[in-house]
Amino acid sequence: MSKVDICLVRGQLLHFLRDPGQEDSAEACEYFEDGGLLVRDGLIAHAGPWDTTLTAFQSLPAAEQEAAERFDYRGHLVMPGFVDTHIHYPQVGVTGSFGRQLLDWLTDYTFPAEAAFADPAVARHTAEFVISRLLAHGTTTASVFATVHAHSADAFFEAAERHALRMLCGKVMMDRNCPENLRDTADESARDCRNLIERWHGRGRLRYTLTPRFAPTSSPEQLAVAGELFRAWGNLHLQSHLAENAAEIAWVRELFPDRRSYLDVYAHHGLTGPRSIFGHCIHLSDEEREWMAQSQTAAAFCPTSNLFLGSGFFDYAAARAAGVHTGLATDVGGGTSLSMIRTLAEAYRVSQFAGAALPPLRAWYLATLGGAEALGLAEYIGNFAVGKEADFVVLAPANIPELDWRLQRSNSLPETLFALALLGDERCVQATHVLGRRAHQQEG
Ligand code: GUN
Ligand code: ZN
Repeated sequence: MSKVDICLVRGQLLHFLRDPGQEDSAEACEYFEDGGLLVRDGLIAHAGPWDTTLTAFQSLPAAEQEAAERFDYRGHLVMPGFVDTHIHYPQVGVTGSFGRQLLDWLTDYTFPAEAAFADPAVARHTAEFVISRLLAHGTTTASVFATVHAHSADAFFEAAERHALRMLCGKVMMDRNCPENLRDTADESARDCRNLIERWHGRGRLRYTLTPRFAPTSSPEQLAVAGELFRAWGNLHLQSHLAENAAEIAWVRELFPDRRSYLDVYAHHGLTGPRSIFGHCIHLSDEEREWMAQSQTAAAFCPTSNLFLGSGFFDYAAARAAGVHTGLATDVGGGTSLSMIRTLAEAYRVSQFAGAALPPLRAWYLATLGGAEALGLAEYIGNFAVGKEADFVVLAPANIPELDWRLQRSNSLPETLFALALLGDERCVQATHVLGRRAHQQEG
């Protein structure tokens, strides 16, 4: 019989059972000031108050107790790993490039950076770097754009597999309106995607995500290819961009005059539905929002990117009120940080402009279970329900003296969580665990 792998964790446990809503219902979360997690072969076996966790642990055979790894995180907050629902790993090297809005930014910075991924060694090196930095920021799952090169998706999957991470990734499909050296064809993209799907989809914790970049860079034929693959497999994921920027939206109207809206371009080609997620979704009509909700098509809210590229203010409360599954995303390199904590702070500021302030419990739901739900992965990750995969982040607010000072004056959990979102950042990420095992630990 093979050896059972047990981890026992003690700390301040926080996780969400559902969306707390704009009213920020405390019943949507569980918080155990002195809490415990028992992890068996990478899955949550028990989560609750420390005494009940200890009892569960003590009921294990003596040999398993002896072999268990124990983590004492008292004084630290332990919560599910962050879920970044939209990120471009090859763009990490152009993060913070000056002075452009979306379409010029793509031409001037992004496409040249992605062209460098023609070299598989660049892809491998960058993939390993980004994964190790995601872990350092507490992110354990992401929906990831590679470049048009099939080997760029291979490189990311290989790195994710080495770290046993639950990751979604796909090679970008784009066959027009982009530089020649970044262009595939509808047929080539069909062949490459099929090969990648066969190699990676469902291998361990990995899933393939069809990734037509956005409507302007795919011909109707290529969008149809994506739709056929999405339908034929039945359990693939799909990601793209939608309604981010005014010039982009006008361009889509010109390119697809027969479609009633930007979203209709995707819906027409069979690209909407469960497991389908679109970045940005800022400038949507009520009708488009309703279609997203009805069809269970998700949105990725990318506040640092939307502010940086001057794209606009996503209305998270309205999206949720309409029933749209919505995750939080860094959108690096349009976004300016890998930190989901910094991203939460910007989400809050954007929500102030949109007219409905993002409340604190809801914010941390958004960064964890909300993201898992938006990606169609909530059966595996997102909270500490028994049987889910034990990916978690350990936060030490005291690592930031001003935050520590502020929290000494906090009178409630929501107050603490709000200050943590606004004043916290990756310095608070003390450790990150994947399937119970410690995959990152802050030095010093
Ligand atoms: N729209 C099409 N491609 C991109 C991209 O790489 N980043 C962002 N933010 N928007 C896009
Ligand atoms: Zn993007």
